[in-house]
Amino acid sequence: MLRIGLLTSGGDCQALNATMRGIVKALVHKSEEPVEIYGFENGYRGLIYGQFRVMTPADFSGILTRGGTILGTSRTPFKLLDIPGEDGVEKVPAMVHTYHKLKLDCLFMLGGNGSTKTANRLAQEGLNVIALPKTIDNDTWGTDITFGFTSAIDVATRCIDDIHTTASSHGRVFVIEIMGHKVGWIPLYAGVAGGADVILIPEIPYDMENVVRCIEERIHGGGKFAIIAVAEGAISKEEAALPKKEYKKRVAARTSPSIVYDIAKEIEERTGRETRVAIPGHTQRGGEPDAQDRIFATQCGVEAALACLAGEFGIMIAQRDGKMCHMPLAEVAGKLKYVDPESDLVHEAKALGISFGDE
Ligand code: F6P
Repeated sequence: MLRIGLLTSGGDCQALNATMRGIVKALVHKSEEPVEIYGFENGYRGLIYGQFRVMTPADFSGILTRGGTILGTSRTPFKLLDIPGEDGVEKVPAMVHTYHKLKLDCLFMLGGNGSTKTANRLAQEGLNVIALPKTIDNDTWGTDITFGFTSAIDVATRCIDDIHTTASSHGRVFVIEIMGHKVGWIPLYAGVAGGADVILIPEIPYDMENVVRCIEERIHGGGKFAIIAVAEGAISKEEAALPKKEYKKRVAARTSPSIVYDIAKEIEERTGRETRVAIPGHTQRGGEPDAQDRIFATQCGVEAALACLAGEFGIMIAQRDGKMCHMPLAEVAGKLKYVDPESDLVHEAKALGISFGDE
């Protein structure tokens, strides 16, 4: 009997179910022994409190296209891992206990950066862990792509497309806030795919002078409207020069709900153009996975199953230069993958005339 545990941790995304389906189908198909499946509910919380469902392969059938996660998810911040919860439960020993009590042979963890750090910690405690790179943000170090990313790009791109028509009718400037946490992958890709005029991402600090100049040039050139795609973590040159503590203070003191409102206000004041904010928000994590995500999620699931059968643990499944591979958890845990400001796509976008507000 092969006994496996599955959990989905952190913010959800469109391709979690597709990934779990890949793991289970490949295990059932390739394992020489029967597979017993324990699905932990709501992320690490299920492992901590021993909340699980005994599942069958049939539970993973028909879920390739279903967004969200059939297991539920939650955030268990890594920095609080060694601080007992309000109920006094010590999280790491509790997770180790559940794993051993169920006599698991492997725990598959689908999660992003923070969750991968916890997976690494569990591996250090001697558990057989395999992590799979989930996140719309695409910020997991050690893999070229994460599942959830391409579906989120599609949603954000559709938002930019839809805003085009109304922006054009009213001759307005639109500032669209795009998710991505501390990195700019989704705004960069969606901004290019949606034909934004300006893209602001954390990796390329902006100067409002440059943003305003770009909008004015467009308007004087006959453009009736302008679209600005802004990462939720976008940062000005002035803010980027501040010591980290000072910057955090400034963000905490913000009276607007987020930076896009401040940017929109300043654009309206300085250009005299009616300016509106649009926020697709969590729709970027919702709905069905796109075809590319379904394929990559399936690849990750299958590779994780094969790694388990080969007895390879303490790894994260990854894709590098188009090839599926395994990365040691200890190497990837805790590192963020940023957009390279010198990457081809940034240069190509600039060559098109898209402004990043830096020059
Ligand atoms: O990590 C995925 C993500 O959607 C980020 O892009 C965003 O900053 C964050 O999660 C939102 O978190 P929550 O769902 O807790 O509001």
